[in-house]
Amino acid sequence: MRSEPFMELTILPGTNRCGEKEGFDPIVIRPGDTMSIVGPTGSGKSAFINDIEVLAQEDTVTGRSILVDGAEPPEEMVRDPAKKPIALISQNTRVIADLTVERFLSLHIKARDTDTKQLITQTLTLANEFTGEKIALPMRMTALSGGQARSLLIADAILISQTPILLLDEVENAGINKERVISCIREYNKAVIFVTHDPYLSLMTNRRIVMRNGAVAAVLEPGNRERSVIAKVSGMDAFLWDLRERIRGGDLIQERDVPAVKIGVQA
Ligand SMILES: Nc1ncnc2c1ncn2[C@@H]1O[C@H](COP(=O)(O)OP(=O)(O)OP(=O)(O)O)[C@@H](O)[C@H]1O
Ligand SMILES: [Mg+2]
Repeated sequence: MRSEPFMELTILPGTNRCGEKEGFDPIVIRPGDTMSIVGPTGSGKSAFINDIEVLAQEDTVTGRSILVDGAEPPEEMVRDPAKKPIALISQNTRVIADLTVERFLSLHIKARDTDTKQLITQTLTLANEFTGEKIALPMRMTALSGGQARSLLIADAILISQTPILLLDEVENAGINKERVISCIREYNKAVIFVTHDPYLSLMTNRRIVMRNGAVAAVLEPGNRERSVIAKVSGMDAFLWDLRERIRGGDLIQERDVPAVKIGVQA
């Protein structure tokens, strides 16, 4: 495991959409933590991670504030994106710079004085573990698909920018290999927060934040209580992943390809 500079974020409560105080205890995020944000459409999930991304100081619609290592973040950290310990990879993340993948990555490395061609290859290899269609170094950034661009930015955040905290908004829809992303984030001791509607991804994280009416309604730490369920859902998810790949690959799906599913069926 690789060591990271110690970085701890604390989220302090604000108000819900009606202006009433939220009732949660301060939420602390440390390296290696995995967290998912769940809740109905419009319940405030994006607003929650946006607060973290901008290091809110009671200056957003939610009135929440974020502490870095237990204190108000220094002004320069809030203003300068390069000093922010956070990378947000959102639903509509696209890279508009008209560069090749190789040039894009090498610019990042040079900017941080950690030059090496090997790092570019490592980053590309990691990105290609997350995505279905492989990325190549001579490709132009603008030609990458949404899923490819996000895979590359996640790999970049982990290996090149070395951002301690990653915020990922609905990566599941990009066809990214989320299991690999989670295992990699644990391996590199990053903290990650997923906004997700995907049951398997929600179950895989250590904590679940449940949003309602713009507020944090619950913070769940299931521990081992969901272990047996996770194993089952993992099988279902692998089945659906395989099915999706076959449909994408142009296969016709037959009755015998789909096992009988009994869940929720009344006799
Ligand atoms: N605590 C709050 N106080 C006031 N307004 C809020 C609060 N939380 C969220 N909002 C506002 O409510 C709207 C919906 O919130 P948001 O976009 O975060 O929902 P979401 O859960 O991400 O929905 P979706 O699943 O559709 O992406 C936004 O305009 C947001 O600014
Ligand atoms: Mg949202």
